[in-house]
Amino acid sequence: MTNSDFTGFRLTTAIHQEVSVSWQSPSNIALVKYWGKTGQQLPVNPSLSMTLSKAYTQTKLTALPRATEGEIELDFWFEGSQNPAFGHRISNFLQSVTQIFPWLVQVNLKIESQNTFPHSAGIASSASAFSALALCLCSLDADLFGILHVENELRTKASYIARLGSGSACRSLFPGFAVWGATKALSGSSNLFAVSVAETHPVFETLCDTIILVNKKEKLISSSEGHKRMIGHPFAQARVKQAKKNTADLLEALKIGDKQTFIRIVENEAFTLHSLMMTSDQGFMLMLPETVRIIARIQELRQETGLDICFTLDAGPNVHLLYFKEQFEQVNKLIVEDLVKNDKQNMLIYDSFGFGPVKVG
Ligand code: DP6
Repeated sequence: MTNSDFTGFRLTTAIHQEVSVSWQSPSNIALVKYWGKTGQQLPVNPSLSMTLSKAYTQTKLTALPRATEGEIELDFWFEGSQNPAFGHRISNFLQSVTQIFPWLVQVNLKIESQNTFPHSAGIASSASAFSALALCLCSLDADLFGILHVENELRTKASYIARLGSGSACRSLFPGFAVWGATKALSGSSNLFAVSVAETHPVFETLCDTIILVNKKEKLISSSEGHKRMIGHPFAQARVKQAKKNTADLLEALKIGDKQTFIRIVENEAFTLHSLMMTSDQGFMLMLPETVRIIARIQELRQETGLDICFTLDAGPNVHLLYFKEQFEQVNKLIVEDLVKNDKQNMLIYDSFGFGPVKVG
């Protein structure tokens, strides 16, 4: 598929009654990180993620009749209230996809969205938000024009659209593991959209991700700003090479069920991401002292107990602790009694391997 496969149709007659669609779409956690972009939201390196299960956005998109054609007309609601800040980002995004969905300027739009997790909880809310919205756009488009009835095509088109809103969002369309970015290690992979990783050992379908919230505040440097700091970064070339190798090696580990390689690569990627932030021109640091304490302790506990635990980090201070379901009891004891103390239970979000978006209306 190429860019030109995604151009759209106009309504030839006005719509006379409102039409709506609703999707739930999950967030994802990157195991090989997307860090640095070029052109129109294209990644400089391949990335590989696991789709989550419990952390998702539910979005309802309604198109209402409109007398005249013009700019995007959007009424945006987030968790029951109008939210001008989010609404502005969404309007800009919708404006940017009017070539693909020309009917967007022929209707009035209403979007109602909510998350199952707190905003700025260290879970990529833009990934679930833009993937849910992209699915709403693509399935309303399919309903209006009777196209794209094959589920795989819908997901791929939605992945392409989601990418334009937020890069990491394009990986949330698929169950389990997804790769975004062209790599020789996975046939069919592309910079334009993500693809599903088909060959996965069943043990990796039992992965759990407990997010230890170190700080719930909005981060000082956004991911979008962080990506910009990769332009002219002294280690940029080496990073692309490393990400390609980590993607290839992780794909192989996922295929054969190699937990030790998985652990090594996942932690290497988390450390690399944060090192790249610190070593950029105008370096910055998103880890907090508590982040460092927890990740050091996770590494110690792995040595001491022999449990298959590891950590990853997003572009923020919160720690994602990854482990396998069969060790849940032992790991959870460590989380509660060691990593965080009993009185800090509200700092935890328990999530796991997920099966992808669901149409709910
Ligand atoms: C560290 O997808 O949030 O989470 O494309 O500018 O919206 P934009 O950035 P975003 O970047 C995510 C960066 C990351 C790594 C990852 O998810 O791969």
